[in-house]
Order: sequence, then structure tokens, then C-alpha cells
Amino acid sequence: MNSPQKQARFHYQDLGPASSNSRDEILAGLQETRKRISPKYFYDDTGSLLFEEITRQPEYYPTRTERRILSEHASDMATAIGTGTVLMEPGAGSCEKIRLLLDALKPAAYVPMDIAGEFLQRSASGLQREFPWLRIAALRADFAAMPSLPADLPAGPRTLFYPGSTLGNFSPLQATGFLRHAKRLVGTEGKLLIGIDLHKDRAILDRAYNDRAGVTARFNLNALEHLNRILPADFRTQQFQHLAFYNDTCQRIEMYLESRIEQTVIAAGKRIHFLAGERIHTEISCKYSLESFTALAAAAGLHVRECWRDGDSLFAVFLLSAGSC
Ligand code: TRP
Repeated sequence: MNSPQKQARFHYQDLGPASSNSRDEILAGLQETRKRISPKYFYDDTGSLLFEEITRQPEYYPTRTERRILSEHASDMATAIGTGTVLMEPGAGSCEKIRLLLDALKPAAYVPMDIAGEFLQRSASGLQREFPWLRIAALRADFAAMPSLPADLPAGPRTLFYPGSTLGNFSPLQATGFLRHAKRLVGTEGKLLIGIDLHKDRAILDRAYNDRAGVTARFNLNALEHLNRILPADFRTQQFQHLAFYNDTCQRIEMYLESRIEQTVIAAGKRIHFLAGERIHTEISCKYSLESFTALAAAAGLHVRECWRDGDSLFAVFLLSAGSC
């Protein structure tokens, strides 16, 4: 049993999308000439665990690099942001990275959001046990749709924490839209702390999304299992293969599921035909330079206040604010 005090500190709320909306959206994507599914379907319970496993693969440098930046500069970040903010984290998942900042940042409240509700609930209540003083309002939400926040959050400046180069999973145009929305959410006094993966040798990038242990492949294919359950559909995962490569022109990783054979899948009662070699687009991961990210932020009316990097400039954590320079 939780003590009354603990109950007051921990809230969980489901703002999740209605499943019929998801079904229409998925079917529309699968019926396009270039088939695609939204990356949010990676994240069922299994997908969330597989993603955690990706972050531990030796080839996947972003997580450990960003963690190093966050722990080395936690006190600088806290100085720049100020204590007592309402700290929101879209796509919080395991709520791991925020641990590196909490002691320095001492936020008034932490609002993790994720599409994978059970996973979020488990990780947020684990966090609550470790940081009993922290007020947590966990929200199951499709954050790309930018839900409105519960009215009973504490007052005070807001900070949006968006690590893991998740912003890179949007196209630059979508990312600008997201940043504009985020800017409105945090208000004129608010700040955004955003982790961004930087340009680098393509071999490093190709390896990061094609780990030898095949975890990224399993993660990608798991999206089909997830669709099988929620549509339902009859995708046979062994008839598809993971494909990920760096597209130099667009400066991004592109990820697909490629049909090994010609086949027809039944999805929510519809026949979806695949030619051998035909692909479903599942994810992009855009890479930025300091300049191109600064320009992206500017397009959303945001200024770069600080930028912390690792020694090899693999990854950067930017502090953005709405106010003028
Ligand atoms: N934000 C992470 C990235 O772009 C997400 C990610 C890592 C990912 N590996 C993946 C998404 C594999 C899909 C598949 O690096």
C-alpha cells in the first residue's frame, strides 16, 4: 500500500488515442503507393524493452554518449535552467536519462509522457521509489499530437526535456512544427533541453542501426507483431527483413521492413499486397550539424542558449529558449 503522501505525489493518466483512430491511420499508410507505418507502433511493451536493449548495443553510441554529456554537465544545465521548473518529457520510456539531472535540477514536478502506457507506469513508479521527494504526473499520450496537459500541474516555468535525438525521428518540417508546439507549451519563460545526433562518418551510422546482435532488426519487425494484435492482421515476420541505411542526400537514416516474397497480408479485413522486395517505411533518424540545428530551432522561433557536446562531437545537447537573445 502506498502512503497517502506517496499517492499525492504520483499520478498516472491515460490520454491515449482511441484504437479506432489508430486502425484507420495504419490502414491508410499501408494502402499508400509507398507503404508506411508510424514509428509509434514500435512501442508496445515488447518494443519498449527491445528499444532499451538497442541502447545497450556496442554499435549504438547515442545513448551512452548523451548520458555522458548529461552527467558531466548536469550542474551547468541546472544553472542555465534554474531549479523548480515543471519538467516534461515526451517519449520518456524508461525514465532513465532524467535521473542524471534530477538532483541538480530539483524540479517542482516531472511529467513523463509515453505511448506505451504499462511500460511508462512501471518506470515512473520505479523512479518515484528512487526519488520520493519528486512529484510525478505520468501521462500515456501520443505526444506527436501534443495533448494538453493536466490543469493541476504546479505553476512556475516549464522545461521540455527531449533527449535521445527523438526530434530527429521527425522530418525537419515536422520537427519545426513540434518545436513550435513545444514553445507554446513551455511559454515565454520556458526552456527546451534537446538531445540531437550529429553528422558523422556514415559507417558509424550504418553500424548503429544494424547492430550485430540483430536487436534493431527485432525491434523493427516487432512493429508487425504489434499491428497483428491491434488491427488485427496476419503479418508473418519471417517473411520480412529489417533494412536500415544512411541517405546522404537527406542526411538521415532510413529504416524499412522489406518483403522477402510476393505476398498478401490481411490487415483489419483489407488485403494488402506486397511485391518481393517491396518496403514498408518505418522510421527516419535525421542527423544535424550545430548550424543546421540552430537554423531548425530558429525556424520555430527558438534560440540556442547553450550547447554541450562530447569530445568527439558525436552528439549534442542543446538548451533552447523562446525569449530574444
Ligand atoms: N531516436 C532514436 C534514434 O533515432 C530512435 C532509434 C534508435 C530507433 N534506433 C532505432 C528507432 C531503431 C527505430 C529503430 O536513434
